[in-house]
Amino acid sequence: MVAAVQQAGSSGAMPHGALPRLGAIKEKKGLSDLRTASTGPKLDIIDIRHAAVEINLKAEVLSLFHTRDGPRMLPTLLLYDERGLQLFEKITYLDEYYLTNDEIDVLKSFATDIVKSIPDGAMVIELGSGNLRKVNLLLQALEDAAKSIDYYALDLSQQELERTLAQLPRYRHVRAHGLLGTYDDGQIWLKDPAIASRQKCILSLGSSVGNFDRSDAAAFLKGFADVLGPGDTMLIGLDACNNPARVYHAYNDKLGLTHEFILNGLRHANRVLGETAFIEKDWKVIGEYVHDAEGGRHQAFYAPKRDTVVRGELIRPHERIRVEQSLKYSAAEAEELWKRAGMTEIGQWRHLEEYGLHMLAKPKMAFSLAPSVYARTALPSLEDWEGLWAAWDVVTREMLPPEEILEKPIKLRNACIFYLGHIPTFLDIQLSKTTQEPYTEPAYYTTIFERGIDPDVDNPELCHAHSEIPDEWPPVDEILAYQGRVRARVRGMYEQGVDGIPRHVGRAVWVGFEHEVMHLETLLYMMLQSDRTRPPPHVPVPDFENLAAKARAERVPNEWFDIPAREITVGLDDPEDGTDVDVPYGWDNEKPARRAKVHAFQAQGRPISNEEFAQYLYSTHADDIPASWARTPATSSEVNPHSQTNGTSNGTTNGAAAVLPDAFLDEKAVRTVYGLVPLKHALDWPVFASYNELAGCAAWMGGRIPTFEEARSVYAHVDALKKEQVEKHLSQIVPAVNGHLCNNGVEISPPATPPASAPASEATATDDDDSELDELDPSSRAGSQALFSNLDGANVGFRHWHPVAVTGWGRGSGGRGAAGRGRPAGQAEFGGVWEWTSSVLQRWEGFEPMALYPRYTADFFDGKHNVVLGGSWATHPRVAGRRSFVNWYQRNYPYAWVGARLVRDVEREEAE
Ligand SMILES: C[S@@+](CC[C@H](N)C(=O)[O-])C[C@H]1O[C@@H](n2cnc3c(N)ncnc32)[C@H](O)[C@@H]1O
Repeated sequence: MVAAVQQAGSSGAMPHGALPRLGAIKEKKGLSDLRTASTGPKLDIIDIRHAAVEINLKAEVLSLFHTRDGPRMLPTLLLYDERGLQLFEKITYLDEYYLTNDEIDVLKSFATDIVKSIPDGAMVIELGSGNLRKVNLLLQALEDAAKSIDYYALDLSQQELERTLAQLPRYRHVRAHGLLGTYDDGQIWLKDPAIASRQKCILSLGSSVGNFDRSDAAAFLKGFADVLGPGDTMLIGLDACNNPARVYHAYNDKLGLTHEFILNGLRHANRVLGETAFIEKDWKVIGEYVHDAEGGRHQAFYAPKRDTVVRGELIRPHERIRVEQSLKYSAAEAEELWKRAGMTEIGQWRHLEEYGLHMLAKPKMAFSLAPSVYARTALPSLEDWEGLWAAWDVVTREMLPPEEILEKPIKLRNACIFYLGHIPTFLDIQLSKTTQEPYTEPAYYTTIFERGIDPDVDNPELCHAHSEIPDEWPPVDEILAYQGRVRARVRGMYEQGVDGIPRHVGRAVWVGFEHEVMHLETLLYMMLQSDRTRPPPHVPVPDFENLAAKARAERVPNEWFDIPAREITVGLDDPEDGTDVDVPYGWDNEKPARRAKVHAFQAQGRPISNEEFAQYLYSTHADDIPASWARTPATSSEVNPHSQTNGTSNGTTNGAAAVLPDAFLDEKAVRTVYGLVPLKHALDWPVFASYNELAGCAAWMGGRIPTFEEARSVYAHVDALKKEQVEKHLSQIVPAVNGHLCNNGVEISPPATPPASAPASEATATDDDDSELDELDPSSRAGSQALFSNLDGANVGFRHWHPVAVTGWGRGSGGRGAAGRGRPAGQAEFGGVWEWTSSVLQRWEGFEPMALYPRYTADFFDGKHNVVLGGSWATHPRVAGRRSFVNWYQRNYPYAWVGARLVRDVEREEAE
């Protein structure tokens, strides 16, 4: 530990306003370098608030204080007003407050090492920056490494941001800015396309993550992880100390500073409430260290010194009101936290065993669900490619066992080895077509790997043109070496960045990317039919039994929603003559954009579940089961280690009592990449089956499968509801933030039209299509991204490696409905399966086969294929989230991961 800090700590009784300057701990620069508000350049502080903190805080104070379930609490945020931040800064100079001292120690020893993971040109965003003296050690190391960095200090108080930023030294390479707002505001700000496109490192120091419950901490980090791109990092300070005395004294210091800091929260509460609800002298602070089944932590409470009445409620002296907790993380708990946040630890620097700084990176194939990240540019970036290749390699090298490579898990299709060669060959062909450069060697691969087979299910003799199948496939190693050369070819094309690739060549690159995306899923659904497929590595096997119990407890009826008549736009315009260089690319079946009038009807909120399908089979005495299921011996627990319970008692579906006997369930399981999961543990998942199977079930359940236009109209309706929700939120908060919103320094006018008070489901007028293509995420309104939907909460892009429960769909505020209100599932919100439509894939006016791959869609206008929308758990967000994307399968094709929801006509409903 550094002497200067200890001296500063020993002056804990420093008067207010006499806090030491950063120079006190700086070793390399003299005081003359310090920038002050009065003499230095203007501070750049960006107001990113979407809501006045005080408004939300008041609501939170009231709900936590007047709670009816559980003990009273007060929000920790109350501690961080301007005075609170100054008191906290003083605490950080105390000897007892080891967290700051240890973290400084780590930073002083390792800052040079730590900043190696932060690339030149990156943004460094510190969440809850407080006093900047610790981060200054990192900034100094970045400066010393001559890295050009934009540092953003995010915190809640304008005055404190001004004061602390003014104390930073003036650097040559590092530019410092402030972000005034909450963590939530920061998350939205990071989605802005201009920001999303930059490399970044998110910092959280001081073990601030420890202030959240463990599950909330994971959600907090995940919220930020989701807006990071591949290669971005997080640096998190986390306290592991579980020495009771050490922890206790850190939060209960001799000088009583921490208790003063906590008591200040009551003053802040009075200000927020606009009344003197708490008389400070009547309250004391109680701190305690706890270590129980939930792990180690310190907790700070308010307790009245005598009987006290607050807002009409009597509080007795024995009552304790928790305002802060500081969780401690063992190595195993930290590991679990990173995993649940979807991040991987790539570096760790510690002070003894107690305090650690952890560098986390986004795994390569962690596809973001935010359009501003996943569809940042019309052409996928090289990072997007690397992520896709990482996913492809996991599936082909780790999940596909070598003995399976020459097999055909689905007899109608090629052997798995074909797809290993097909992906790079197809890409290479497209690249050579547009660049006129020769094929990658061995060029003869183009004759055996160009096109796969997808024969007619009824008559396998009927098959579109495809590559000749050789007597013997080339060796796997040779194919993988070829794959490496084609990938190198792609990397070479990106040498000048995405913008260096001309549009016509870009189309070939894009076609190759989406082709691989689609085949990744095809290969996986083939592998699902094999019992030799290995589970994904590095992903913990889900506890399916527990998940099933949770899903069962959260079930709600599958509601019917009114979908009003509207006119929608289907498809996009993407001229292939290169005239429009910025618009997103689309396949031939997405073009041209066209309008369709859709009548009013009713749709169910979520897809048919496995349980409903089982009831259908049982009631109709059907013998066949869908290909997504398997028959097992009745003792299914032998098949899967997670199936230890006996018989499932059936709940209700759609309000009707279920009558499935255990014997019927016990001999069935659902196929997953983890092996067979007993059907009784997957009852709440969407069922996936052929169109014909699902159409039969839908009719038995009293509905039908929607047409293509109806399904798109449901999505447009959901988009409108989400948009309305966002606007309602904005209209409530805008007046509190100076009548305008600032985003990345750019002012955005509040919505001109006040939100309609009636839900759109009650509207009768035909909606304008604007709602469909409007970006719902207020931070990303850039042109091309209007085509892509925000997939937050959707099970796509490998969020899970299996379908998830859908029977809780539309629950109120605790569920997955649009913030507090039920709504139907929108695009790609089917719990990890696509959505069948009853519309036959057919040629429409204006359809033009694409020049690069003319047979892509045209070969399938045979009247046997139906349109499928959305995406599955294995669909890349670029496809799952694109509002114009269209997929198709033969109506009796049993293997694809497609589910269905019911719709019905309004007239029929009225007649009932
Ligand atoms: C425990 S202090 C840590 C301060 C500093 N990072 C350190 O290590 O000394 C937590 C910081 O986070 C800020 N903070 C707490 N909740 C926040 C929120 N919801 N949004 C933004 N900042 C928040 C506080 O104002 C405070 O500066």
